[in-house]
Amino acid sequence: MNIKLRLASYKDCDLLFDWTNDDLVRKNSFNSSKIDYHKHKDWFKSKIESNNSKIYICMLEDKEVGQIRIEIEDDIGIIAYSIDKNYRGLGIGTKILGLIRLKFSNLNLIGRIKHENIPSIKAFEKSGYIKNEKEDYIEFITNLGDAHE
Ligand SMILES: CC(C)(COP(=O)(O)OP(=O)(O)OC[C@H]1O[C@@H](n2cnc3c(N)ncnc32)[C@H](O)[C@@H]1OP(=O)(O)O)[C@@H](O)C(=O)NCCC(=O)NCCS
Repeated sequence: MNIKLRLASYKDCDLLFDWTNDDLVRKNSFNSSKIDYHKHKDWFKSKIESNNSKIYICMLEDKEVGQIRIEIEDDIGIIAYSIDKNYRGLGIGTKILGLIRLKFSNLNLIGRIKHENIPSIKAFEKSGYIKNEKEDYIEFITNLGDAHE
């Protein structure tokens, strides 16, 4: 499966809006309310223009199938990601977590996941992230220097 990441641009605004309001994406988010389009547009513009956010579109051949965002602060990168509902369960989530781990081997990456989000837990485990059980969520991390193990 030929999976690549490309940086998101303004023209991806509506695509990201559709994905962010997908039922499972909202359910698995810590803020589960539906997102308003105008708020999304402002949010997306600020993210695209920020040096501290990197949003990538996941491409399967020439088809957009998911997104992954890294929020960077100092040497930490917080991961948020989702796969289009028609392409889940094919290994793409696992693959992009691995690609991001290689791309950001200079950062301590962190993913925070609800206990019931089994597909995401499995995807982080299979991509070699280290699991930390917390009371309200499960945290997966990389440590600086371990990306090429
Ligand atoms: C979480 C998510 C990104 C995973 O992406 P994906 O491409 O579907 O994941 P993969 O295909 O790599 O599957 C990962 C594992 O979960 C399993 N899995 C996938 N869908 C599943 C489901 N509905 N129920 C149970 N297990 C499932 C896969 O079988 C695989 O495990 P295995 O290798 O042991 O078989 C995707 O389900 C999604 O977009 N969910 C909504 C948004 C979300 O939850 N984002 C993450 C917030 S932290």
